[in-house]
This record gives sequence, structure tokens and C-alpha cells, in this order.
Amino acid sequence: MGGDDQAAILVLGGGLMGLAVAHALARRGRTVQVLSRRRSEAAGFVAAGMLAPHAEGLQGPLLALGQRSLALVPDWVAAIEADSGLPCGLRPCGIVVPFATIADRDGFATAAFGEPLDRRGLERELPGLAPRWTAGLLFRQDGQIDNRRRLMRALERACSRLGVGFVEGAEVEGLDRAGDGTLQGVRLRTAVGERHTLGARQAVLACGAWSARLLPELPVFPVKGQMLSLQAPRQALGRVVFGPGTYLVPREDGLVVVGATSEPEAGFSEGLTPAGQRQLQAGLSDLLPEAAGWPPMERWWGFRPCTPDEAPLLGASPVPGLWLATGHHRNGVLLAAITAELLGASLAPGTPDPAAAAALAPFRWDRFRGQDPQPSLRQP
Ligand code: GLY
Repeated sequence: MGGDDQAAILVLGGGLMGLAVAHALARRGRTVQVLSRRRSEAAGFVAAGMLAPHAEGLQGPLLALGQRSLALVPDWVAAIEADSGLPCGLRPCGIVVPFATIADRDGFATAAFGEPLDRRGLERELPGLAPRWTAGLLFRQDGQIDNRRRLMRALERACSRLGVGFVEGAEVEGLDRAGDGTLQGVRLRTAVGERHTLGARQAVLACGAWSARLLPELPVFPVKGQMLSLQAPRQALGRVVFGPGTYLVPREDGLVVVGATSEPEAGFSEGLTPAGQRQLQAGLSDLLPEAAGWPPMERWWGFRPCTPDEAPLLGASPVPGLWLATGHHRNGVLLAAITAELLGASLAPGTPDPAAAAALAPFRWDRFRGQDPQPSLRQP
């Protein structure tokens, strides 16, 4: 990379958030360098790609942020597709949440945003759904995007075409700060083991589950998820099915992504486990018995970046000049569009954008001060 260009914005992390923010900044005419340690471990490659603020039952400011992002997605995707020349695999197919009882359905946090279904309605939307599910909610506004096979590649190509620089295999080992604490640059270890400092007055931390390694003040910890995919008959599933603990996300070509375990206790332990895979298999049979016979294609795992309230850390950080785009937990794909928009506006030269500042306020990194950070979820 070309020397210490202090005007360049460094994006720390080449996952979905890093790429989305880099793309937004490049579109605004900024010079951007993305520093990425190992792209394959990014949560953006691991997630199922659901756009599901309602099916996930989000509440409060996180629901509002998710709804705002969902509304931005079509234009965001159109911009990525135009800049990259590649499709992103957006599929506004709706999501069905099945329930064992009508009382469970009516008590669901986002029930007011969905279309109530009885058993007959469920059978119409999801032929083959196990008989124990007697009620449901159809969220037509929710959907999915093919993150693993399309979105990530398209975003990367869009960034490259807009002149974003990439340094792969580079681990950011520390922040370089001036005497008054402001950001001066980052200390980097390259793929060949060389260490050097890269100067920058502005950077965006998008390191996902690994964010606290760079800035220990950040309450971000990993929640491992194991997943698998199946090859279904092409039109077997028209909508995403979001059951308790297990979901099925059908791509256009019949591939069905099945998720996901949620293992805060696993820390950063890598690999599939028999218990995790059994849980997915059991959840699959419990939702859609015939799916248990569809041939498996791939199995994988990853680490969601979680925070004590499961909402992201966005905006200013404890280090002046360093911005945050991390901690998106289960909702990274959904929230990428709004994260990119708000960070792009916040880092624009000139006076800070008051609308962006107001939208970011509920997601300040230090909102947990004085609170018990849910020790049951925290990892050592
Ligand atoms: N968004 C679903 C999950 O994280 O498993």
C-alpha cells in the first residue's frame, strides 16, 4: 500500500461491515484502505442472510434501526450491483414464524407487524410443516439476501472498482495514539510477519467478534453459531421459516441454509461439534420433517459479535478519530445498509450530520456504564 496517506480512512476489518462502510465512504469520494486479517472468518460469510427485524422479534431502538435498514436495502443493493456489475441475490420472499399455540403467536414481540396465520394458512405458506405448529405470523416485508455466495463478492468488487485499497492478511495489533489520546494510526503485522505503523487520523473499527482485542473497553464477545446447507427440490420452500432455535432460508436455486446454534459458552473455540450438528438436525425434523431427508451440502461455523444488550456499537469510540461499526450479533446482514449510511454521513468532512448523530445515539459504546453486563452471556 502506498505510504502513510493521512487523508485516507482506514477500515479495520474486511467483513461485511468493513466492506459496507468502505463502499459508502468511497461513494462519497473518500480515500479508503481496508485492512483485513482473514476474510473467510468474517461473520458476513457465515450468516444465513436473513433480513428479519420482525421475524427476529426485535424491540425498541434496535427494531427501529432494523426497520430503517430494511427500507434502505433495495437502494443499497442496487448501488452495489451497479458499482460491481454483480447480482447480490436479494430475495424479498417473506418470513413465516410458526408457533405451537395462538397465545404464543399473539404474544410475540412484533406480532402487530405480521399477518396472523392459522393452521390452514401455515399449510398454504409452508407445505409439509410439522403438525405441532398450529399458528403463525407471516412477515411479508422481511426477506433474505445471498450473503455467502453473492453479496460479499459484489461488495468487494464494488469497493475495488471505486478505488478502495485492500491489505489482506494484515493483523492490526494496536492503535497508535497521540499524547492527547487521538488516533494517529495503527500498528500492523503483515502476512509475511513484518511490523509497521500506518498513519491515519480517521479509522473505522469493524472487527466483529474480535473487536475487544483491539479496544478492550468494548463490551463485544463471540457467540458461536453452527450451520449447514441442504439441497432441496427447487421450489420446495417459497418462504424463510423461522422456528424457535432453527430456521430454514431457501435460496432461489434450491439451496437451503439451516441455522443456527447459539453458543456463548464456546468462546472462540473453532469447529463443528456433534451436539451442535445434532441440534440442527433435530430442529430441522421438528419444523419440516421431509427436509431431514434432503442431501446435506456444507457445514460451517462462525462467531457472532455480541454485546450485553445484543445491539450494535455504532459511532464514536473512546479514541477520538476512531469510529465503531461492530457488535451486530444476529442482525449484521440486516443492519449493514443503515450502518454504512450512518457511518458514511458521520465521517463526511465538515460539520457533523445531526440526523446521523441522533440515529447513532442509542448505540453508543458506553451505554452500559454502571450496568451489570449480563455475566451469564459474557465470556472470560
Ligand atoms: N440471524 C440469525 C443468526 O444469527 O443465527
